[in-house]
Amino acid sequence: MQGNVRPETMERITTPALAEAFIEKQVKELRAQIGDKKVLLALSGGVDSSVVAALLIKAVGQQLVCVHVNHGLLRKGEPEQVVEVFRNQMNANLVYVDAVDRFLDKLAGVAEPEKKRKIIGAEFIRVFEEEARKLDGIEFLAQGTIYPDILESDGVKAHHNVGGLPEDLQFELVEPVKLLFKDEVRVVGKALGLPDSMVFRQPFPGPGLGVRCLGAITRDRLEAVRESDAILREEFAKNGLEGKVWQYFTAVPDFRSVGVKDGKRTFAYPVIIRAVNTTDAMTATVEDVPFALLQHITQRITTEVENVNRVLYDLTPKPCATIEWE
Ligand code: XMP
Repeated sequence: MQGNVRPETMERITTPALAEAFIEKQVKELRAQIGDKKVLLALSGGVDSSVVAALLIKAVGQQLVCVHVNHGLLRKGEPEQVVEVFRNQMNANLVYVDAVDRFLDKLAGVAEPEKKRKIIGAEFIRVFEEEARKLDGIEFLAQGTIYPDILESDGVKAHHNVGGLPEDLQFELVEPVKLLFKDEVRVVGKALGLPDSMVFRQPFPGPGLGVRCLGAITRDRLEAVRESDAILREEFAKNGLEGKVWQYFTAVPDFRSVGVKDGKRTFAYPVIIRAVNTTDAMTATVEDVPFALLQHITQRITTEVENVNRVLYDLTPKPCATIEWE
C-alpha cells in the first residue's frame, strides 16, 4: 500500500496515456489488496467518489458495493445520473437509498447553518451505517480522499461524510486516488470513461442544496432552489460559461416579497444568483455575467419556477462575503 506522501518523482498525470498507466497500476494494486473480499463505497456522484467507483469496478467488479444516499439535497438529475452511469452503464453493484423524507424530517425547523450541516453529516453516517449492516462479508471501505485532503486536514477528508462509523464497523481503507490532485483525478476519470458532466463538474458542498435553501428548509423553497439552479446551469452551459466560471448556483432566502402576476398580487420568494471565480476558494471575485443573459435567466426563473417572483444577482466578492450564503 502507498504511504500518505506523494513521492517527488511522481509524474503529474496530465495526459490520457499517463492516466492509462496509473489506472493499470492501481487495478493491479487494488486486486492485490482486496483479493476476493468485498469493498463498500459511499458514492455521492461527485468527481472523487465516482473515479474511485470506476477504478474499483475495473479492478474487482461485483465485489464493490456502492451505496448512493439520496438525501434530497442533490441537484436536479444527480441521483438519476448516478443510477444511469453506474448501475445501467457500468453494471455496478449499486444500492440506491431514498432517504429524502428522513433528512427533511430531521432538518425541519432547524435554521442555524452549522446545526444543519451537523444534522446532514450525522444522518448520512446513520443511513450509511444501516446499509453497511445489511451487507455480509465487507472488509474494506473505499474513500475518495485526494491529496489536498491529506495536505489540508491531516488525512481526514474535511467534507467526507463517512468519518464517523462506529467501532464495530471499522473497515480497512482503500484510497486509490489519495496521492492525486483534483486535475489529475479528472484526467483519470475521463480515461475511465466517466461522462464529462461528472468529471468536469463545479465544486458542490457536501450538505448540498441544504445550505442554499437558507434558514429552516421547507420543501417548496428547496424545490425552488433545485429548479432555479437547473435553469442557471442550463443557461450557463448554452452560453459558454460552463467550465469557465468556477462556481455558480442559486440560493433562496426564507422571506417573501410582494410582486404582481397576471394582474394579481403575489407574495413569493426571491432567487439569488451567485457566480464566482477563484483558484483556492479562500478569496473569490464575481463573474461579469452579460446583463442580457441575466435578464433572460430572470425571465425563465420567474415564469418556470413556482413560488418565485424576483431574481437578484449577488455582486459581493469574498471577502467580505463567503461563496455560499450559509
Ligand atoms: P465558502 O462559502 O466558505 O465556500 O466561501 C468555499 C468553498 O467551500 C464549499 N463549501 C463546502 N463544501 N461542505 C463542503 O463540502 C461544506 O459544508 C461547505 N461549505 C462551503 C463552497 O461551495 C465553496 O466551493
